[in-house]
Amino acid sequence: MTLSSTADSERVFLSQRVLGAKSSATKEMTRLAGLMRGQGKDIITLSQGEPDFPTPRHICEAAKAAIDRNESRYTEVAGTLALREAVVRKFQRDNGLTYTPDQIQVGCGAKQLLYNALQATIDPGDEVVIPTPAWVSYPEMVSLAQGVPVIVRCGASSGFKITPAQLEDAITPRSKWLMLNSPSNPSGAVYSRAELEALGEVLLRHPHVWVMSDDIYEKIRYDSEPFATPAAVVPALAERTLTINGVSKAYAMTGWRVGFGGGPISLIKAMNLIQSQSTSHTSSISQAAAVAALDGPMDFLPTFIDAFRRRRDLVVQALRAVPGLTCDLPEGAFYTFPSCHGLLGTRDQVGTLIETDTDLAMYLLRSAGVAIVPGSSFGLPGHFRVSYAASDAELQEAMTRITRACKQLC
Ligand SMILES: Cc1ncc(COP(=O)(O)O)c(C=O)c1O
Repeated sequence: MTLSSTADSERVFLSQRVLGAKSSATKEMTRLAGLMRGQGKDIITLSQGEPDFPTPRHICEAAKAAIDRNESRYTEVAGTLALREAVVRKFQRDNGLTYTPDQIQVGCGAKQLLYNALQATIDPGDEVVIPTPAWVSYPEMVSLAQGVPVIVRCGASSGFKITPAQLEDAITPRSKWLMLNSPSNPSGAVYSRAELEALGEVLLRHPHVWVMSDDIYEKIRYDSEPFATPAAVVPALAERTLTINGVSKAYAMTGWRVGFGGGPISLIKAMNLIQSQSTSHTSSISQAAAVAALDGPMDFLPTFIDAFRRRRDLVVQALRAVPGLTCDLPEGAFYTFPSCHGLLGTRDQVGTLIETDTDLAMYLLRSAGVAIVPGSSFGLPGHFRVSYAASDAELQEAMTRITRACKQLC
């Protein structure tokens, strides 16, 4: 959704930047689903990307203790020293990355880190290479910073991942960043160490291109391969890599709004300046909770992963059985990204043409009462994204409905 319907008198007041921007398609789909539910319709929402588990108890207790200690004041813009030290420990322990606390920024979710970095580095016309399918917010954030998103389509044949040849082709003298996201939203694809090394070889030939590695789904993976992140795999890239992570997904803390990033001091300082003139910092209580999350036990994680794996298998098996859909097995995150090319060009029961993935998404919402997100929102039409961060019962029912609705198309 854009602001294109805004009245002329109001458009004069709004910036060209915001008039050209799109709101998040996932949030839009979830809003539509909410509206229909408000009208009494039975809607299952598989459009939202957040774990349905409660935040682990010890993290909540740490937040309560911070309230009792009256930790209710402003903190440093970059985040409390206690949290930045916990982040330093996390990067060292999990990723083999060595930072000092002044190389760390904490923000209101990983999203703010991405936003700060782009605002701090992009001049009008600067290019950012975005392999798609990619999270809906990447291109919009680049455009809001007056940069140019350079969209590189990566289909199922390359596992929805950018190849070294595609990267080489996409780089120009105006390229500033390559945005990587592994495990990926929306495809669930995970870059292996070897794949990152191969991309690293290309990047080493282009020293003006920096890497923004969005590792927010690091912990949600289904194979036993160690997690690979560019700054660790290609140490020569570390001095031009921003590694972004957070507590939202792995610790079921989406609403607490804590993300963090590690990178060169000059970049972090510039990002702190941007943050100092916007949100200042995230909540002091959330920061105390995030220390407990990062330093605390991870014994809850296998339960999360087992549930996600079971749900992934349920959804993929059901979607693979639907004529017209094909579906890869995602290796991480909690999304599947089936191709619906085989259903495009069909008609529903009242003769409406299903021409695009958006038509299919609207049809499934209307006639099956299931909210999913069209692939075109992620830069790869002909697909759709199903979030399986929902209960088994909801997923089972949603798959029954999707199957029935798709079989009715002819
Ligand atoms: C790829 C990706 N990056 C970042 C985020 C934002 O995470 P946070 O909630 O920490 O801002 C999301 C949320 O859906 C995401 O999918």
